[in-house]
Amino acid sequence: MNTKYNCKALSSFSSCSNCKIPSIVGLSLPNWVLELSIDAMETFQVRHDDVYVNTYPKSGTHWMLEIVGLILNDGYPERINRTAWSSCIEMIDLGINKIPKTRKEELANPMIMTPFLDVVERAPSPRVMQTHLPWNLLPPDILQRAKVVYVARNPKDVVNSFFNFLGHTRAFGNASYDQVVKAFIHQEYNFRYGSWFDHVMAAWELRDEDNILFMFYEDIQKEPVKSIEKVAEFLGRPLSEETLQRVLEKSSFKGMTKTYREAKEKATKNGEADFTVLDVMKKGTSGQWKERFTVALNEDFDEWFGKKMKDTDIRFDFE
Ligand code: A3P
Repeated sequence: MNTKYNCKALSSFSSCSNCKIPSIVGLSLPNWVLELSIDAMETFQVRHDDVYVNTYPKSGTHWMLEIVGLILNDGYPERINRTAWSSCIEMIDLGINKIPKTRKEELANPMIMTPFLDVVERAPSPRVMQTHLPWNLLPPDILQRAKVVYVARNPKDVVNSFFNFLGHTRAFGNASYDQVVKAFIHQEYNFRYGSWFDHVMAAWELRDEDNILFMFYEDIQKEPVKSIEKVAEFLGRPLSEETLQRVLEKSSFKGMTKTYREAKEKATKNGEADFTVLDVMKKGTSGQWKERFTVALNEDFDEWFGKKMKDTDIRFDFE
């Protein structure tokens, strides 16, 4: 399918023979992303008041989700509908023990996707959804019908955060920090969601469209008030000073950690599923890469980054 924004090649879904990671025309995806989920994007019913938070992983997805959720709920975190809200549209909402271990097992159980789509389809408006899918795999009419907030983060902190989140798990095995950073640069180990550069640039190219707001993680950190106001204006929900202050406090690293912790405790107590992700709340600062990058690694990274950025006008703040 070709439209102004999307060009899909869905039939090319296959598995990497070495690692069993599903891939679409060379794009690696976590193994809980089903072919069905990707196919569903093509006919997914986008609503005019949907808000999508689109990111390359580890770029501040949950932070922006919370900001958007708070803006739409007058700054009260307890009013956010987290049942459907915190789930990626391309992800299936499963307990970790139910995630298929192999692609074969996954394809043998396609129906496990159904409950999640049901939840999303039945969710009341306005829905706020996150997705890491690159632009060409998102619903084709997404920008004509809904609003998308894209968040980009400097790639050194992205890969650093990736390692802190997934290092020493099945995603990277026993790969060292340096190996993971080099894999990020050279697109080895089937880095999930593919090339950071391609992901970011596809959204950057669309930044002047009315229904996309392109934000940088570092800007939100340095100018939170201005950033929240910008998102609120984009969503057509200007905030009173009182609500702005509430959104500011509740979306801060401390405020969000508290919200997530309380949600987790409540869910555990009531035996319910918890849709917040306390695990993503690591440190929440910029420039963490400096603590881990060696001089040599940094030189390699800068060389790659310089070449990639040569013909672009996007600029990143690494501090
Ligand atoms: P670090 O691992 O660098 O600390 P994602 O949601 O895309 O997975 O991104 C996770 C990153 O966002 C983590 O970065 C996490 O700490 C950071 N983060 C989450 N909430 C934040 C907040 N309120 N303020 C700043 N950073 C936040």
